Amino acid sequence: MAATMTKAIEIVPTGGALGADIRGLDLSADIDDATFRAVYKAWNDHLVLRFRGQSLDDDRLVEFSRRFGDLDMAPIGAKDSPFSRQRPEIAVISNIVVEGKAIGGLGNSELVWHQDMSYNDLPPKASLLYGVETPPVGGETFFYNLYSAFETLPERLKARIQGLSCKHDATRNSSGQLRQGFEERYSNQDRPGAVHPLAVRHPESGRTSLYLGRRPNAWVVGLSDADSAALLDELWAHVESGPFVWAQEWRQGDLVIWDNRCTLHRRNTLDPSLRRLMHRTQVRDGARPVASA
Ligand code: SIN
Repeated sequence: MAATMTKAIEIVPTGGALGADIRGLDLSADIDDATFRAVYKAWNDHLVLRFRGQSLDDDRLVEFSRRFGDLDMAPIGAKDSPFSRQRPEIAVISNIVVEGKAIGGLGNSELVWHQDMSYNDLPPKASLLYGVETPPVGGETFFYNLYSAFETLPERLKARIQGLSCKHDATRNSSGQLRQGFEERYSNQDRPGAVHPLAVRHPESGRTSLYLGRRPNAWVVGLSDADSAALLDELWAHVESGPFVWAQEWRQGDLVIWDNRCTLHRRNTLDPSLRRLMHRTQVRDGARPVASA
């Protein structure tokens, strides 16, 4: 029987708090198991991986994404989204408008720091974002290491969040738009969303990370609105003041995968005159986020 050849890949860390480039891999070709194991380990080690210069159609994007696990469906779009979904597992993120109709979601606005779909009981473990068409400037995506955010929390805050959980708002997306099927206003108690611990144990690394989802409309369950807001403001101020960030400046053909369990991401605004089209998949996680011991 012929021996399986493993492709030699080069793993080049960004030098920042997270992220690495994987060089020497054509994702449109078949990837043997040993090579994929090396990619998976690099992803566990660096939390965000970038593969430049790829040429992927939707089938190939889905096929590569499925190496990481079964896929979730794309999230519910904003109310009155004019675009129709062609592939339920691909989220189309775009500012392009054709004959008055947006071809994708999230438009030109800034996207706040967030973890994808953490308003679900079973949030995805990974997202893969592919640059189909990217502008020369704008729309940079920033990634944040939530292990480091937890590890550098003052001891007082680590003790304070022990045993506390947060409700993650399901009603608005990361640009603040109301999703289809939800009301304009809710109380913290009534707002639809999932409840997850503020400090979670990563199921693969065993390390503890903060688990914040996004700031708008978050609520620390059981606290008064004012006490919840004060605690969340303190946690987010800690994140905002930390240096644990890496910025992805997109080129067409970039494929980026991030670990959604221990990273945040946000996006810069876009110039409406410059086209940007991204296709994203979400890899399902089989389990709820678990509180750190
Ligand atoms: C996302 O939040 O997944 C989209 C990020 C981006 O458009 O760069």
